[in-house]
Amino acid sequence: MTTQQQVKPTLWAGRWGFVLAATGSAVGLGNIWKFPYMTGEYGGAAFVLVYLMCIVALGVPIMMAEIVFGRRGRGSPVDALKRLARESQRSELWSLVGWVAMLCGFLILCFYVVVAGWAFSYVWKTLSGGLGLPSVEAYGALFEATNSNVWTLGGWSTLVTVLTMVIVGRGVQEGIEKSVNWMMPGLVLLLAIMIVYAAFSGGFKEGVNFLFAFDFSKISSEALLAGLGHAFFTLSLASGAILTYGAYLPAGRSIAQTTLLVAFCDTVVALMAGLAIFPIIFANGMDPSSGPGLIFMSLPLAFDQMPFGSIFALVFFVMLSLAALTSSISMVEATISFLETHTPYTRGRLSIGVGFVLWIISLFAVMSFNVGADWKALGMTVFDWLDYITSRWMMPLGGLMTAILAGYIFNADSLRDEIGLTGMAWRLWRFLLRYVTPVCIIMIFLDALGWFTLDLSHQWYWIVAIIAALALLGETLSRRHAAG
Ligand code: PFF
Repeated sequence: MTTQQQVKPTLWAGRWGFVLAATGSAVGLGNIWKFPYMTGEYGGAAFVLVYLMCIVALGVPIMMAEIVFGRRGRGSPVDALKRLARESQRSELWSLVGWVAMLCGFLILCFYVVVAGWAFSYVWKTLSGGLGLPSVEAYGALFEATNSNVWTLGGWSTLVTVLTMVIVGRGVQEGIEKSVNWMMPGLVLLLAIMIVYAAFSGGFKEGVNFLFAFDFSKISSEALLAGLGHAFFTLSLASGAILTYGAYLPAGRSIAQTTLLVAFCDTVVALMAGLAIFPIIFANGMDPSSGPGLIFMSLPLAFDQMPFGSIFALVFFVMLSLAALTSSISMVEATISFLETHTPYTRGRLSIGVGFVLWIISLFAVMSFNVGADWKALGMTVFDWLDYITSRWMMPLGGLMTAILAGYIFNADSLRDEIGLTGMAWRLWRFLLRYVTPVCIIMIFLDALGWFTLDLSHQWYWIVAIIAALALLGETLSRRHAAG
């Protein structure tokens, strides 16, 4: 591709373009649907603690690396990594990491549209008076009914697929940026309304305790892996989204500040969603560990039992739908941008083609809830597999590879030049990527594979010692290497 270098790169038009788009990508079903129900399933504060640690120590440095790669390479994950590898005189095979990321984003979207479809269908249900049922069982039956009809569920996920592809098809500035410009402020406003409402629900204290009564000894292996996977999922890492959005970031913007802002907003929204949901659940004596159906079964019933419940149910599900859409567009942008560079077709046409493939695969995820509910491998449906493979394996592994690329493979001077950090900040970022991130991810994997059991309350000093020893060794070796 020699011609593409002469073409002016696409950039966000507005000052807040990147921040809004990246926050839009990060804030999604992961924050409002997945985080609350996972917190419920994994016992509350212990999971929240793992999740927060993973965000700070692993998520933030990796997100910075992805933006650096995107802006330095100015292209899709595959093209950007190829360019960086070339610049660092390394094998272009490293761009495989970009391929995996692109595939991961696409696979997530295949099941994400189904969950987003639930959100849209609940907007419709509140508007058409379809809610207002007497018991959680009745809501369970309603949720079941939505899912058991392949046409209804397929219809809603198709709507999400079409909306996503229309927005992306219109372009980075005209489609993505213009949508996030109004969707993100709208989302924040709706969420703020929800919190105030939840604060008066009567269960606020219990909700706060459930989320924040940290206890190291309650952290299980399962919670560790789930927390790690979720930290990556919620920040949209290792799936091409942030890297591709970073490719449109104008030079001169601080990558570190931007990342901290996006990660902060994402975390605040997840915690706010927890604060909006759990008080309502507790105030109405419900079970926080009811799994993926939490916000579709327990929450609507809770709304019914409260003043102005149906208005707030509408607010909630509109917010959820907006959040889903600003994320779904980011998952497919990497693929579209890659194809735009490597095929003669326009973005509009590519969106139709990619949308079609996406639609076909997503129908299998849809069928996991009805006609294909029995198509299981190792007890998991297609939907479960897509979720499991991407968030438990592809994302953490992709994160590990990103850390290795930034910490060991790519030329440090180029990275430093691009990220614009100096002194302590630069050294801290390098240290996190070279030692902390890989050690933590590998340990959590070993734990998941059953090789040993990680117990943070007793072993934290071991972990610190391993990281310190590796750092000492690594830095001595590289100094020798530089001198020799
Ligand atoms: N961060 C999104 C969420 O929390 O819902 C999910 C996501 C978006 C994952 C974009 C991956 C991605 F590329």
